[in-house]
Amino acid sequence: SEAEAAAEPAFAFDEIEATVTADHAVADGYDARVLLRWGDPLFPDMTPFDPLRLTAEEQERRFGYNNDYVGYLPIDGSSRHGLLVVNHEYTNEELMFRGLGGEAKREDRLAKITPEMNSVQMAAHGGAVVEIRRSEQGWEPVLDSRFNRRITARTPMDITGPAAGSPRLSTSADPGGRRVLGMINNCSGGMTPWGTWLSGEENFHFYFDGRVAPDHREAANHRRYGLSRAHYAWSRLDPRFDVPTEPNEANRFGWVVEIDPLDPTSIPKKRTALGRMKHEGAAGAFTADGRYCVYLGDDERYEYVYRFVSEDRVDPKNPAANRDILDRGILSVARFDADGTGIWLPLVHGEGPLTEANGFASQADVLIDTRRAADLLGPTKMDRPEDIEANPRTGRVYVLMTNNSRRKAEEVNAANPRPLNAFGHIIEMIPDGGDQGSPRFRWEMLLLCGDPGVPEIGATFSPQTTRNGWFGMPDNCAIDARGRLWIATDGNDKRRTGRSDGLWAVETEGELRGTSRHFYRVPVGAEMCGPFFTPDDETLFLAVQHPGESDDRTTATFDRPETRWPDFRDDMPPRPSVIAITKRGGGRIG
Ligand code: FEO
Ligand code: CA
Ligand code: CA
Ligand code: CA
Repeated sequence: SEAEAAAEPAFAFDEIEATVTADHAVADGYDARVLLRWGDPLFPDMTPFDPLRLTAEEQERRFGYNNDYVGYLPIDGSSRHGLLVVNHEYTNEELMFRGLGGEAKREDRLAKITPEMNSVQMAAHGGAVVEIRRSEQGWEPVLDSRFNRRITARTPMDITGPAAGSPRLSTSADPGGRRVLGMINNCSGGMTPWGTWLSGEENFHFYFDGRVAPDHREAANHRRYGLSRAHYAWSRLDPRFDVPTEPNEANRFGWVVEIDPLDPTSIPKKRTALGRMKHEGAAGAFTADGRYCVYLGDDERYEYVYRFVSEDRVDPKNPAANRDILDRGILSVARFDADGTGIWLPLVHGEGPLTEANGFASQADVLIDTRRAADLLGPTKMDRPEDIEANPRTGRVYVLMTNNSRRKAEEVNAANPRPLNAFGHIIEMIPDGGDQGSPRFRWEMLLLCGDPGVPEIGATFSPQTTRNGWFGMPDNCAIDARGRLWIATDGNDKRRTGRSDGLWAVETEGELRGTSRHFYRVPVGAEMCGPFFTPDDETLFLAVQHPGESDDRTTATFDRPETRWPDFRDDMPPRPSVIAITKRGGGRIG
């Protein structure tokens, strides 16, 4: 009967246990193999990785640190041969270099960072393009590929779109404001239907040190994006990261970068039309009339959800025609109303409050100051919006709020209903008329996360969810070819939830909606990033980020990590790695 069909689970795998271990684990019947780890050679004739002899020059030719977003671009439509693109978000110096860690004060920690360490860190940031192939032995990188490429914090990039050439992007190295070196803190991303990789620059403020005077043109902007004290010591190596010396340099970060993986000589482009924020990802969808829309989360407490819609239609037959399609279009910010409807508020210079009188002389100003422009339009302050994915089969758009443990009771709203929201939630947006370009939408709460066994938490996992099945702190997500939702987490640990981060499969339809099952868990200290399926759903790529990291980022060190995954060798620290999961004997995942 129809009722029985509705109760049929979409997933058919045996759950793993939710716990914390030194190794990773995947559901029975699946293999989880390491494909690429920090330090692996990306070119032929290179020596095996030795972390104690790592130079910046070496690191530029090896897989970078802290893999986050993972995308797969099939070659000739293949699910067994393609290009893997990977973001390298940040570096854990205490796990990369011997002799760091355990410093009580920031100054003591920074004083230990040598110029060479700084330089290695810059080379370990950015991204990688790696040709990969699946054989009987499993997936392997192709080292003599002409596509393999590292992008770092020093790779020349173009600034394009409405903010390009703005005097506020002018620096002593680049007076024209159109050429910047590098991308940093690239978190999640997206693949476009024309074969490019979108990579979101997230917490760029960690790299910029010092402040301008309170009456400086950029003072309010710097405050709004949290610039003041850098986590990194890069400003000692390269003065462009010293804010008083180069006050406009930070305006050249916080963008979505578009990269063409098929052309290893192509210059990455920072697409300013998509706004400047702490970008998580850049998930795409088509509007009813064939234009391209990109959903964007700004991952910080009380920040907003955005959507860019291109002015031009995508030409599916001619990738070159779409090359600069992301330079023209309208960026909007979301308001979620209590009646379950919502509206996109456009950030267009000259419209509404976005005028010269309010400090916005041009669209460039609106985009450089995306957050302050959005503030004037009254959008909904969210609990740290991370990944967003549109389900092409249903048109529903999934938005992951990871947590906001600072939200006060008087600050709750319908779309962020829990004060002290430690465990996050997942919202579904349903565009009006089934058109991703529509100015309005409906929205529903899919899940309030956390332990359903603790009533005060108010989690809403279905009763069919087991004690292994619930999770907190959703971060990344993927929708497979069958339209099913997979959630990756960041922040589960022994103390907070009694479990490691990992991947959970979540039912979205019928009576089982809100049922979650545990498929994979990361080793201790890691977070789960980058779920991405090959087109045939037979391989699932996952990124294990910062394995062995301690909560305070100081007690776990090169010589005393929480785990030595994945090598488990006494002379090797833990290594962030991309893994490939396949089903034993073949077949689709899950
Ligand atoms: Fe880099 Fe919002 O996670
Ligand atoms: Ca991350
Ligand atoms: Ca993330
Ligand atoms: Ca996160």
